[in-house]
Amino acid sequence: MRSGFQPDFLWGGAISASQADGGWNEGGKGVDTQDLRWLDGSWTHVQIEEKHRNSPFSKAEFDAALADDGTRYYPFRRGINFYHRYKEDIALFAKLGLKVFRTSVCWARIFPDGDDFEPNPEGISWYRSVFSECHRYGIKVFCTMVHYDIPVNLVLRYGGWKSRKTVDFFARYAETLVDNLGDLVDFWLPFNEFNAGRFSPWDGVCLIKDVEGEDYDCQIFHCLHHQFLANARAVQIVHKKSPGTPVGGMIARFCSYPATCRPEDNLQALQDNQYSNWFYADVMARGAYPTYMDRYFDRLGITVEKGPDDDNLIASNTVDFLAFSYYFSQISTTDQGWEKTSGNLIMANKNPYLPTSEWGWQMDPLGLRITLNQMWDRYSLPLYIAENGLGTSDTLEPDGHVHDPYRINYLRNHIAALREAVVDGVDVRSYMIWGFIDVIACGPLTMDKRYGLIYVDLDNEGKGTGDRYLKDSFDWYRRVIATNGVDLS
Ligand code: BG6
Repeated sequence: MRSGFQPDFLWGGAISASQADGGWNEGGKGVDTQDLRWLDGSWTHVQIEEKHRNSPFSKAEFDAALADDGTRYYPFRRGINFYHRYKEDIALFAKLGLKVFRTSVCWARIFPDGDDFEPNPEGISWYRSVFSECHRYGIKVFCTMVHYDIPVNLVLRYGGWKSRKTVDFFARYAETLVDNLGDLVDFWLPFNEFNAGRFSPWDGVCLIKDVEGEDYDCQIFHCLHHQFLANARAVQIVHKKSPGTPVGGMIARFCSYPATCRPEDNLQALQDNQYSNWFYADVMARGAYPTYMDRYFDRLGITVEKGPDDDNLIASNTVDFLAFSYYFSQISTTDQGWEKTSGNLIMANKNPYLPTSEWGWQMDPLGLRITLNQMWDRYSLPLYIAENGLGTSDTLEPDGHVHDPYRINYLRNHIAALREAVVDGVDVRSYMIWGFIDVIACGPLTMDKRYGLIYVDLDNEGKGTGDRYLKDSFDWYRRVIATNGVDLS
């Protein structure tokens, strides 16, 4: 029996290009799909999260965002200015003792239009500097190829993921990354949260609801199929060109409990799991569309159009590991009137036994242990926790301190549950705190929903010095890392 974390357990932190980098029109970068999301100060958190979950744009809003008449604030264009401050930030990551740093490459920084023949040398050189800086401090690099954003030109010219051409453009991009950054990347992840395409279609598959009309659901799965092909192509490329570097698949894990012991609620829980989680991981890890989806597709009138070689491509290129984000759990029930609360990417059914965060997400450390056991039982593949953390507001005190016992408490409880999963025998290899340096929150597009151990002095309108301050949780996590998860006090 294992008693705790393996000596090489990867204590980490994660961010994404859109939410952190900024420099949206510097270094030869093209405009990407996340550059278009804007924040209207009059929207409430609930309105913004609702927009995010469904579709942030109508066609008219999309056109207006693209036209950019100078009246809108686009938070992702500025991020936290990691583009210019990465050296200072990585020095802080090293001070924390970080073992692995997860970030994404912005596709439009490498291929500004997505369909370009030659990559942008400035983009490659910037990522080489960032990743080299990590290695200088002995920090491993966990690199996501697509964390939602794709060059907007691909949407305008080809319909984005609706087109098979995008799969080819992606393969060129993936190959370019492996050729040019492969010596500096320790883990490849072709896609962030594969199931986001289903639950947050602009983010995941870049679809605008009112453009697709009645065909919306069908188009979502059409795009997802293309992403499965793109994922398989990336796996193939990494295996061929960088054998020995693991390449994985990721889902946003929606952990769910039956509301009662009624068989109907248990069936609902099974199906919620199949349709929201397992489908995506099954295709990437087991290499085939699971048969339970036939009935689901039939019910929704969805036909996935497959090419003659698609099944073979997917079957021959399965992932080496599975990664997931975990923030909350929810209830599965057939009761349509069940009380709802907010959750990552979805509205969740409320569990009366769980406390919620300031943003309404249900906090459930034990759910992390349960989910780790379930995923290990199902796939027997190494597991990487790619995101976990508490998004909440913080106060920067006049003396430059941020006291965040609530965050320490959240992280402590989740790491303790993770440790139990290790003792249960689960092969889990990393724990990466999401937004361990404050970034723009993806749902609300604001700075006031902070996950970080490092505070960034910016407000929701992007005003502030942008300076970095250490929160109490920074010292706490440093001790956790230094003791390999023994000291959680
Ligand atoms: C995940 C995304 O779904 O959740 C991140 O991969 C995101 O990009 C994170 O930031 C937390 O969500 P939010 O909306 O609180 O930023």
